[in-house]
Amino acid sequence: MLTKAPRGTKDLFGNETLNWRRVEQIIIDLCKNFGFYEIRTPIFEHTELFQRGVGETTDIVQKEMYTFTDKGERSITLKPEGTAGVARAYIEHNMQGEAQPTKLFYITPAFRYERPQAGRMRQFHQFGVEMIGSREASADAEVISLAALLLERLGITKVELHINSLGGPECRKKYNTILKDYLGEHLSELCPTCQERYEKNPLRALDCKVDTCQAIVKQAPSTIDALGEECKAHFEQLKDLLTEMNIPFVVDPGIVRGLDYYTRTVFEFISKDIGSQGTVCGGGRYDGLIEECGGKPTPAVGFAIGIERLLMVMEAEQGPYQHPVQRDLFIGAIGDQAMIKAHGLIYQLRKVGISAEGDHLDRSVRAQMKYANKIGASYSFILGDEELKVQKVALKNMDTGEQEEVELSKLVETMKQKIEA
Ligand code: HAM
Repeated sequence: MLTKAPRGTKDLFGNETLNWRRVEQIIIDLCKNFGFYEIRTPIFEHTELFQRGVGETTDIVQKEMYTFTDKGERSITLKPEGTAGVARAYIEHNMQGEAQPTKLFYITPAFRYERPQAGRMRQFHQFGVEMIGSREASADAEVISLAALLLERLGITKVELHINSLGGPECRKKYNTILKDYLGEHLSELCPTCQERYEKNPLRALDCKVDTCQAIVKQAPSTIDALGEECKAHFEQLKDLLTEMNIPFVVDPGIVRGLDYYTRTVFEFISKDIGSQGTVCGGGRYDGLIEECGGKPTPAVGFAIGIERLLMVMEAEQGPYQHPVQRDLFIGAIGDQAMIKAHGLIYQLRKVGISAEGDHLDRSVRAQMKYANKIGASYSFILGDEELKVQKVALKNMDTGEQEEVELSKLVETMKQKIEA
């Protein structure tokens, strides 16, 4: 147990962390481009925030939260998603007083006690954006277009955008009646949880993972049929905006999302390449959440992308990522005096931004040169008594094998020129 990470978690290191940093940088640059600013909210919040925000009848709240009582007898929960914390922060810091809409993004770990499988973990990471303060369909289109452009920038081509509309509270009320009528005919065939949901929140039955329930809800009436005029027009406008932006989509009445806060637009980017957990990105409009959390009525829309799934899709399309191993210079040494001088030079070079490296294992010269090759050094030399005496070294170009004589006093200058060339 001591030498194994908890089930559903994963260590990231080596090539993988380099790849994460690369992808995160692309995300950060893109968010800047779209005018979204970073927000970092705590890893844990008061449990009630998620109960109220995500919803009492959702799988997340009913089965998946990491909840504990702290030493002050408060009920605390590790965040299962990013939106509720952002909504809380928006209210707490009066962000509605700034230029609206407020456009925020985050990259955060999230925690759900789910049965681990490919693409489903207990600690995973989300990149999310939240655009708060606009009810216009142009805001929905903006967040969707950000996700679409990110996928494009990452070279992902085989992911499909599915959109749907759940409507506002009125349409939902109407739809709930229609859905209850339908589910009522199959009540005894539904799983016990869905039988409970039938009473409290029948919409939740639509994303039940139990096979028998899935077969029944497949034939259920669609939310789109229950949309009122305004919600219908909002959805039509979103479709026009996406068409204008040249972002392909399919209208999919099966997309209802697993969290309770959604109103009107819901969407998912789905991959067929990574198995059953193919939803890379999920999001939608949540016009009631800020009010539910104690703020003024404020419309909002956003999404979250699971970074682990995103990387799985990239690997499925592009193969494993190999970060090039590379150093500018390796300085080997023979003898104590040369070793001390070598590490002094390495520090001087690093100070001016050159990635120099030395030996820390008291290796033989042969082994030091093997190591220089392994770490991808572009240049190298060995420092010994003779080199110290004449204050000159033979700087070797590791690609061509060519050597040139360089005075030690001019080493930093010479290396700078070579790196800049
Ligand atoms: P969600 O659909 O629950 O939505 O999660 C968003 C994404 O997080 C999923 O599409 C998936 O890629 C990833 N994800 C979820 N659970 C796991 C897991 N157990 N293991 C690995 N990846 C996972 C939300 O969380 C909403 N807060 C999205 C949102 C933001 N809606 C509006 N704004």
